[in-house]
Amino acid sequence: MILVTGGLGFIGSHTVVSLQEKGHEVLIVDDLSNSAIEVLDGIETASGIRPAFEELNLQNTAGLARIFKNNDISGIIHFAAFKAVGESVQKPVAYYQNNLGSLLNLVAEVEKAASPIPFIFSSSCTVYGEAKELPINESAPVQPALSPYGNTKQIGEEILLDAVNAIADFRVIALRYFNPIGAHPSIAIGELPLGKPQNLVPFITQTAAGLYPKLTVFGNDYPTPDGTNIRDYIHVVDLAEAHVVALERILEGKSDDDYEVFNLGTGKGSSVLQVIDSFERVSGLKLAYEIGLRREGDVIAAYADTTKANNVLGWKTKRSLDEALASAWKWEQKIRNL
Ligand code: WQD
Repeated sequence: MILVTGGLGFIGSHTVVSLQEKGHEVLIVDDLSNSAIEVLDGIETASGIRPAFEELNLQNTAGLARIFKNNDISGIIHFAAFKAVGESVQKPVAYYQNNLGSLLNLVAEVEKAASPIPFIFSSSCTVYGEAKELPINESAPVQPALSPYGNTKQIGEEILLDAVNAIADFRVIALRYFNPIGAHPSIAIGELPLGKPQNLVPFITQTAAGLYPKLTVFGNDYPTPDGTNIRDYIHVVDLAEAHVVALERILEGKSDDDYEVFNLGTGKGSSVLQVIDSFERVSGLKLAYEIGLRREGDVIAAYADTTKANNVLGWKTKRSLDEALASAWKWEQKIRNL
């Protein structure tokens, strides 16, 4: 049984479907604080299999112990965490308590287990901050975090590295995501719009759906070709598949080291204006937007060096920016009954 914490979330739900497509049995643990129980139906529609589910916050150590006692957990993919950069600045204690407390409780269960359990950690390219060199490879320095959220990812990786050194045969892979976007081709699952979107693509699709009069582009005076920030937008299904490859790498004894890190991106940088152009091309719509002020904390550019993921992990992206945006738009149209 593969335990997927936060498995009703955006990346978690897509990873559950990819796991099921490879024949893995899945148990989702989610506290529904940033997801909805209906996602279970979406997963079943997308894969044809309804995963087991337990509603639980990972701070509940008794509940977590019961999960491990009652199930034969052979792998863990840990997504459950608060993840809004801006909110983390307002609520640092809640972020450290939830994100680090949850991770520590999970690792404590691994420590108690009869044999070590392969562990995949959801990390983020945020750990690199404004990288000096582009594209960004895994040996790029981890820079002081720009937000408590980013810091919980950095500290989380450090906790796992120390745990790996202390627990015999415990193997961990940390996956540092760039910018996940899009939706499953079945459009049975996608990025649930809970509250005002912080990220670019949900804001684009919700503007196109008429929920907002226009998108604000946060600055066009950056030192980039068109003046807007550059990011590496990766289709969420490509990202989900990478998690299965990483888990199977440990399960099949292929990992080179007890603790491995991989950057997950397309290797291609796209500016905000290029994303808008792509969206207009795939939707046939003209997007209303204006150029506004820069957003505090935005890095100028970040995109992945995919060499290690391609050559060592043996995974690469298959889907394009257009495909990702087309799926995001189809998802938006579906949930708004457009
Ligand atoms: C992308 C670009 C904005 C909204 C964040 C987290 C990162 C990860 C992914 C969790 C930026 C611009 C955005 C808008 C805009 N999350 N933008 N108008 O900031 O690269 O990464 O999400 O792991 O940790 O930091 O993604 O989608 O917020 O922004 O112009 O209304 O779009 O300025 O250049 P970001 P984003």
